[in-house]
Amino acid sequence: MVSAARILQRCDELARHSELAGGLTRIFLSPEHRAAAALVLGWMREAGMSAGLDDIGNAVGRYEGERAGLPCVMLGSHLDTVRDAGRYDGMLGVVTAIECVAALKGRKLPFAIEVIGFGDEEGVRFGTTMLGSQAIAGVADPALLDKKDAHGVTIRQALIEFGLNPAGLKTVARRKSDVLAYVELHIEQGPVLESEGLPVGVVTAINGFSRLKVALRGVAGHAGTVPMSLRRDALTAAAECVLAVERIAKSDGELVGTVGRIEAKPGAINVIPGEVHFTIDFRAPRDELRAQAVRSAAAEVQAIAARRNVRCEIETLQELGVAACAPWLMSQLERAVAAEGFPVRKLPSGAGHDGMALKSIADIAMLFVRCKDGISHNPAEAISADDAGTGARTLFRFIEAFQAA
Ligand code: GLV
Ligand code: MN
Ligand code: MN
Repeated sequence: MVSAARILQRCDELARHSELAGGLTRIFLSPEHRAAAALVLGWMREAGMSAGLDDIGNAVGRYEGERAGLPCVMLGSHLDTVRDAGRYDGMLGVVTAIECVAALKGRKLPFAIEVIGFGDEEGVRFGTTMLGSQAIAGVADPALLDKKDAHGVTIRQALIEFGLNPAGLKTVARRKSDVLAYVELHIEQGPVLESEGLPVGVVTAINGFSRLKVALRGVAGHAGTVPMSLRRDALTAAAECVLAVERIAKSDGELVGTVGRIEAKPGAINVIPGEVHFTIDFRAPRDELRAQAVRSAAAEVQAIAARRNVRCEIETLQELGVAACAPWLMSQLERAVAAEGFPVRKLPSGAGHDGMALKSIADIAMLFVRCKDGISHNPAEAISADDAGTGARTLFRFIEAFQAA
């Protein structure tokens, strides 16, 4: 049987591999990534899988079916984190999938199982959300290899320094015929399940997102000498833009919008900010609604910049459309939830997940596990042992009863 205690203990062990003392930050292709992946690969082997790091930094374990080489049910989640993260976002899905394979105790199924710990879902280091799963799905743009981190290191260089192969961006791709389904267990990262007293829920679709980067350039100057009427302050312009994003996001109940990062230069108490860079993240369950929000935000930012006499550049960093979960997989997850004795709650995912990339090669589904106070992307992220156990047993039931489409 699955062990909830071992799942939580392994999430704790992974959380120790962090660049942040006393907290958790683990970015793609860092020494902490290497250490976390080594732990995961060891657990995969213990569970009876062959395991290794692929050329793009994903930890991949394979458990053969009744015959070697059968198509697989792909399970997993990510091993990278946001800055100052919680310890379950991503890791719970990887560790639970391994626990389910271990619980088979060598029993063979009419399909293989692969568990993947994706290396770069959050995109913190290079701004490349879901690079690992895009590569597995064969949809990663080779131009991504030239993206740089904050120190000017490209993905290509970082992969080579890590002992990996940039060609992996294409060579790790799977064929559609090799993957029967992609199923991910993840904490909900929101408050719905908790508010309804339910330990697990079945995801209907993952909301799409658009990510933009904005640069505003005015004129830096002396904070004491330049009269207010003669300033070209990039930060006051950005402040208006931030509020415009909030106003647009509030215009529709299904839309959310966030300015999560802002940097003002030169950044001194006595200097008028001459240059500001900020990001915009819009999400919605309908692609047209999100596209409209992006158009409105771009128009408002340009209008604000023109009125305040600052130059503006807007760059689209990434766009991923809504990823619908497959009804045939959802109904198998629903049966597993019901067999655990819980009502089936279906809900959309506001957060992004690797299924958004993997939908290009396989039908996808997700099982959410309740988290405390709906808090995520925060060190206060928490789940109970009971819920970890319910999630794992539900996933195990799903695997045991899995019927390909
Ligand atoms: C990934 O965690 C996201 O930003 O949704
Ligand atoms: Mn996350
Ligand atoms: Mn996640």
